[in-house]
Formats: sequence, structure tokens, C-alpha cells
Amino acid sequence: MGTRDSYDEVAEAYAERFTTELDGKPLDRALLTHLVERVDDLGPIADLGCGPGHVTRYLADQGARPLGLDLSPRMIEIASAAHPDLGFHVADMRDLHVPDQIWGGIAACYSIIHLAPAELPTAFAEFRRVLRPGGAALLSFHLGDEVRHLDQWFDRPVDLDFQFYQRAEIESALQDAGLTPDAYIERNPYVHEVETTRATILATRT
Ligand SMILES: C[S@@+](CC[C@H](N)C(=O)[O-])C[C@H]1O[C@@H](n2cnc3c(N)ncnc32)[C@H](O)[C@@H]1O
Repeated sequence: MGTRDSYDEVAEAYAERFTTELDGKPLDRALLTHLVERVDDLGPIADLGCGPGHVTRYLADQGARPLGLDLSPRMIEIASAAHPDLGFHVADMRDLHVPDQIWGGIAACYSIIHLAPAELPTAFAEFRRVLRPGGAALLSFHLGDEVRHLDQWFDRPVDLDFQFYQRAEIESALQDAGLTPDAYIERNPYVHEVETTRATILATRT
């Protein structure tokens, strides 16, 4: 059992717990709104690792043309049922199977956390390939050095590694892939969140 099967296993419970979470995350909403303004009419915004689709919904409500992609087929079924007016597809951010330069923006909220450090170059090269010049990527992750392993989540069996990252690791992998970091925000957890320091990086596709 890996990441895909684990998220299939917890998809319903995850959706129930997190679908309304942006209501209590004003800074995250502001950053996503900024991404929408920043991308403007350059092209669609792909929500990579969209889970149940609540971030995709928020992007649409801010005036973007988003679509959601996720490794977990069950997540995609749930997102599609909840937001039938938006497009959701099963996909792996490391190998997206879409044409070059097709999107204006990428939102990756707590989804690169399931990539091992050695996988970042492949994923970020893919981000650059699919973004139009001048496009932007917004990435959120847990700050630190640890790998937190879960073999149970929401009372279901899983086999999930949560890879924490340092700012410099992500920024240098982005830079190496041709994505220039231009903003970094760090925040403490909100009271309803797991107690980790949260980091978000905005990068431009050069
Ligand atoms: C912690 S959840 C975050 C979901 C949503 N972005 C949010 O903020 O609530 C991580 C999501 O990333 C997806 N994911 C993990 N690895 C992925 C990959 N290589 N490609 C696409 N999606 C992936 C998982 O299936 C899961 O839905």
C-alpha cells in the first residue's frame, strides 16, 4: 500500500474533515487569491494533489479557471461529485501527461509532502514544462527535517510518509528546475491544525 491506495482508503473521512477548512485559514485564502490575481488570464490553474477539491473550488470562486488533479482515484470521484462544474482527473504530478506550456498556474497545497527529496527534481521539471512562461506555482509544505510515518489515519490502515522540508531545499530544487522563487511565507499552525510550522513558496516559471 502506498500513497495512492492510502488516500483512496481515507478519502471520505479526509473530505469530511477538510472540505470547509479554508474557512478557518485566512492567510492561505489570501495566498490563493494572490495566485489567481498573479496568473490572471495567462491560463488555467492546476490544483495538483487536489484531494476532495475544496482548494480548486476556492480558486474558481476567485475567478480562476482551475482544474484538479490527484493521484487517488477515490479523491477524484469525491471532488467530481462535490463540484460537478469543475474538471478533476487522476494524475501524478511527477508525470502529468499533458502538453507543454498548457497552464498559467499551479497550486500544490500540502501535496509535495508525499514526494521524497530525490523526486523533487522530476516533479519541478514537470511543473516548469507544463507552465507557460511567466506562470506561477504556489507550494505549501510542513517545515522541518523529519519524515512522519502513519500506518493508521482516520481509523483506517494507511502507509503514508509525510516528508517535511526546509525552505532552502525547496527553493534550490525550484531554481534548478527553472522556477524562480519570489515569495516565502511561514506561519504557525491554526488551532484546528496539526502542530507543524507551515511554509508556502511562490515561484515564477522563467
Ligand atoms: C495532504 S493531501 C492535500 C490535499 C489538498 N491539496 C489539501 O490541501 O487539503 C495530499 C494529496 O496529494 C495527493 N498526492 C500525493 N502524491 C501525489 C502525486 N505524486 N501526484 C498527484 N497527487 C498526489 C494525495 O492523493 C492527496 O490527495
